[in-house]
Amino acid sequence: MQFQVSPSALTDATVTVPGDKSISHRALMLGSIAEGCTDISGFLAGEDCLATLAAMKSMGVTIEPGEATEITIDGVGLTGLEKPGSPLDLGNSGTAMRLMAGLLCGQAFDSVLTGDESLTSRPMRRIIAPLSKMGARIDSNDGMPPLTIHGQSALHGIHYDLPVASAQVKSAVLLAGLYADGAISVIEPAVTRDHTERMLGSMGVAVNRSGNRISLEGGQALTGCSVQVPADLSSAAFVILAALIADNADVLIENVGVNPTRTGVIDILQAMGADISLEQPRLLGQEPVANIRVRSSELRGGPVDPALVSLAIDEFPVLFVAAAAAKGKTTFSGIGELRVKESDRIAAMASGLRALGIDVDETADGAVVHGGQFDGGVVESHGDHRIAMSLAVAGTRAREPVTVRDVAAVDTSFPGFCDCMAALNLDIKATAS
Ligand code: S3P
Repeated sequence: MQFQVSPSALTDATVTVPGDKSISHRALMLGSIAEGCTDISGFLAGEDCLATLAAMKSMGVTIEPGEATEITIDGVGLTGLEKPGSPLDLGNSGTAMRLMAGLLCGQAFDSVLTGDESLTSRPMRRIIAPLSKMGARIDSNDGMPPLTIHGQSALHGIHYDLPVASAQVKSAVLLAGLYADGAISVIEPAVTRDHTERMLGSMGVAVNRSGNRISLEGGQALTGCSVQVPADLSSAAFVILAALIADNADVLIENVGVNPTRTGVIDILQAMGADISLEQPRLLGQEPVANIRVRSSELRGGPVDPALVSLAIDEFPVLFVAAAAAKGKTTFSGIGELRVKESDRIAAMASGLRALGIDVDETADGAVVHGGQFDGGVVESHGDHRIAMSLAVAGTRAREPVTVRDVAAVDTSFPGFCDCMAALNLDIKATAS
């Protein structure tokens, strides 16, 4: 599948985007090991979360009605999961694999976790190291999936200093910690998304945070609850970008998660001159949400604050396009983690933007993007959903049509992307390649 993008003038609108991917994965996993029912509304029925859903079902959890935005999980309790009959295929999802590894290493049965070509080349030592310290036994393919997790019902507590700022690693340790015979604590080098901590709290688990240390006592039971999933800021970011780089646009995105561990993209764009405001801030369960108003803005380049990187980790493809549309040069540094996402996002964005006529200098852990004007052309997504959507939005402002190749992965996080863009009058069509 590819996107055919025609330059188009954005029309003002109020839009919604699908549910938060991180929160949807966590609701499935935590709801499954809770006691009693968990009702989820606003669930992201995208491929990544559906892979997690299928995995939980194959371990004996009843989740109805399946592929929908409102689902109910009949929790089986901490030790109620059953051995899956075959390897768990987690598709493209790093979150599913890393969190699931944490959840499964304390079970009494063996399991195998695998995924697609991208996922099976992503680094897993970052979770194998702390989980092994807890007593888990995990085999890998030279640090990469498939992972074979040997059933182990005697995990012990650890104190772990995370070498990389990663919510997935932190969450894997916290989930394994539920099965430990003592306390676990993790120290994060920079604040990362805290959805696991918040949801564990809503389900009755005492999670303590003191500075950058997060800890919990093993053996605490979870109680099912209702989870209202906000719209995903990481998906809203494509709408924000489209509105910012359009002419005279005023767009409202409703009910978006604005957890402060996720809003780095807004801070970075505002520092570039973006007119973005949060309206009607409120709480949806444990998660802050707001309506986000975006008006087109004259963006200007500059150095991007590396302290904001972990709070905007998935939005750099969007930020690269914003930088390309800005006046002057934008310097990104401290973003080396982007090289081990669904694709090498620094390289993918550098080559995509260059193909559209933008000057980009790549460094080991960053890039300098020189603002300019987008030409038409053919660009590659490298099978990465966020690269595909970012380059498609850039294409709406190009001088000539843009083709973005290999875009099927967009359904992992943003089913309905083209329809959402069409609601803004942006002409992005998915066609067979
Ligand atoms: C996620 C954490 C981040 C992020 C990913 C979702 C999560 O990954 O990039 O899309 O839900 O915990 P890292 O932990 O690798 O930074």
